[in-house]
Amino acid sequence: MAQTRRQFLQQVGITGGAGVLYSTMSALGLTSVAETPAYAAPNRVELNGRSKHVVILGAGIAGLTSAYELLKAGYKVTLLEARNRPGGRNWTVRGGTTETDLAGNTQRASFSPGQYMNAGPARLPQHHVTLEYCRELGVAIEPFVNQNADAYLYREGTTALSNKAIRHRTAKADVYGYVAELLATATDQGALDSLLTATDKQALIGFLSGFGSIGDKASGYAYTGTDGRRGYTVEPGAGLEAGTTAAPFSLSDVFASGVGNYFSFEFGWDQAMMMFQPVGGMDRIPYAFERAIGKDKIRYGAEVTGLRNTTSGVEVTYTSGSRTRVLTADYAICALPPHLAAKVPSNLPAPILEALRYARPTNAGKIGIEYGRRWWEEDHKIYGGITNSSLDTVNTWYPSYNFHGDRGTVIGYYNTGTNANSYGALKPAARLERALAQGAKVHGDVYTKDVKAAFSVNWMGTKYSEASWVSWPSQTDGIYARLLDASGNIYFAGDHLSHVIAWQHGAITSARATVTALHSRVAAGR
Ligand code: ALA
Repeated sequence: MAQTRRQFLQQVGITGGAGVLYSTMSALGLTSVAETPAYAAPNRVELNGRSKHVVILGAGIAGLTSAYELLKAGYKVTLLEARNRPGGRNWTVRGGTTETDLAGNTQRASFSPGQYMNAGPARLPQHHVTLEYCRELGVAIEPFVNQNADAYLYREGTTALSNKAIRHRTAKADVYGYVAELLATATDQGALDSLLTATDKQALIGFLSGFGSIGDKASGYAYTGTDGRRGYTVEPGAGLEAGTTAAPFSLSDVFASGVGNYFSFEFGWDQAMMMFQPVGGMDRIPYAFERAIGKDKIRYGAEVTGLRNTTSGVEVTYTSGSRTRVLTADYAICALPPHLAAKVPSNLPAPILEALRYARPTNAGKIGIEYGRRWWEEDHKIYGGITNSSLDTVNTWYPSYNFHGDRGTVIGYYNTGTNANSYGALKPAARLERALAQGAKVHGDVYTKDVKAAFSVNWMGTKYSEASWVSWPSQTDGIYARLLDASGNIYFAGDHLSHVIAWQHGAITSARATVTALHSRVAAGR
């Protein structure tokens, strides 16, 4: 009997071990790319009794990962965190959460029990190492709906299809259909003969007929939209009810509207389904880290006011309430946002300070709106996913938890840059009012009814973050790279020190690289 590929691989694994299995899988092209560089956790044997004390500034995901990995190897670790919770930007807002932003707006969330909004990170791709930590730390995960055929696209403007909520599936069917019709026709008429052989042409037309659901040559490869992909005006049903489809929007209207210009989002390396979220809120991750690390090793309410390399290690000054404290350790890992680390009085050399200041803070904003009824499920048949629009709200997220529950919390806007800044400049009540008016354009009046609670975040105005993430003018001109090595006994970590900025994966991989560098130095007795 022929072996299945799986049986074959199992046998290789059994006789050759995991290393052989891995290389065999690579040879067969079955692995996804592994973390680069591959991570090997520091171990106690290599430490050889030279236990060192590492103080970590910031209990965001990079700080927590650093602490967790160093503790496994036997280091002594102290984490200093200005907030009274772990996670940094990984922040889940629930009923009772209170926050005062830098403009002095105080919000107290009154979400119902079980309702929450992830104010920061909210989705995890399958290939991110974040999921491995969820597995290791016992954080349960569930699917996060990042694309939904029945969510809407909405474009403001003056074209025939502007200012209308169009289902993703409808827009896709029409865009793919017309692209396929045009390309098949051009191919058949010989317009691409300098690029394609006769066999290529046949294969391409074969692909396009499925891709766009177009007719055959005799029909002129016509896209007619009659196969149901774009939706029905009368749905297929019992007995003789075969369903009724509406004619597609015209080719010219479809392209003029720009509804097709958003599909590329779902092809993104980090945005393609499947995606996941922790059950109960993204902050299940930092709280699981906190448990694994031990609360006794984390000092909350500790605002760093000084950072110095000394001849024997590091000296960190911080305030705790009205008191100022000084902590000495062998090494420090500074996992603060770079633009805030630059403001901490220190004896870091000028080129390092220049590199920290090289980071460009970006803003993002979100509002969570709790409704007394899940009208998007009941009335619109939308279960999770994202409506994207050209409105200043940009993204509306329907919740991927508590389906069919009594209540639900929609993310009424998730926007960045100038849109985030303009909402951020408003008082929280005015942000809600504007978000409701914009959302009603897409969903109708139901959007403004039965609102039970709301909470908004403006990351640029959020204390201890002052950005949603940063970007760099360049990551190759040598300035950014200065932060990848220790400056004396001070190391740096954070998503900003990766090419996966604005993801926990970036924070984790950066922390792992930093821990590796620190440990090789300690293990070598340098
Ligand atoms: N990682 C962030 C997101 O998914 C930027 O929106």
